[in-house]
Amino acid sequence: MEKLAIACDHGGYALKEAIKARFADKVEFIDLGAHSIDSVDYPEYGQAVAKAIVDGDVTRGILICGTGIGISIAANRFPEIRAALCTDVTMARLTRLHNDANVLALGARIIGEEVAFDIIETFLTTEFEGGRHLNRIKKL
Ligand code: RB5
Repeated sequence: MEKLAIACDHGGYALKEAIKARFADKVEFIDLGAHSIDSVDYPEYGQAVAKAIVDGDVTRGILICGTGIGISIAANRFPEIRAALCTDVTMARLTRLHNDANVLALGARIIGEEVAFDIIETFLTTEFEGGRHLNRIKKL
C-alpha cells in the first residue's frame, strides 16, 4: 500500500477527510493537518508535506487549500518538490508523465469531490515517462 503525506488548510479540510475515506483501502495516509476547520495559514501545511518528502518519510503527497494555489506555491519553494495544481484528469495524467510531479495540489473551492477523486486516481496510477522529460525536470 502506498504511503502518502496529506495536508490542507481550513478551506481544504472537508475534502481531505473525504479523500482519506475514499482511498482508505488503497493508500496509507500520513495526515499532517489541519485537523479542523479553524482558520490556519496554508504555507505551514504545504511546508509540512514538502518536508516529509525531503526527509524521506514518503515519496509523494497531496495538498488541499481553497484554490490549491497558495499551498502549492509553499511546497514548490523546496527544490526537491514538483507540486502540480490540477483541476482535471488530463492535467493529472500529463503532470505525472512529463513533470514527475511528486505533490498533487487541489482546490477544494474549485473542483467537486468526484473530480478530485478521479484526479487522485490518475495521479497515483500514471508513471513518469522519463526520456526527454528527465532532462527537463533536472533543469527545474
Ligand atoms: C484561505 O481562505 C484561502 O486563501 C486558501 O485556502 C487558499 O485558497 C490560498 O491560496
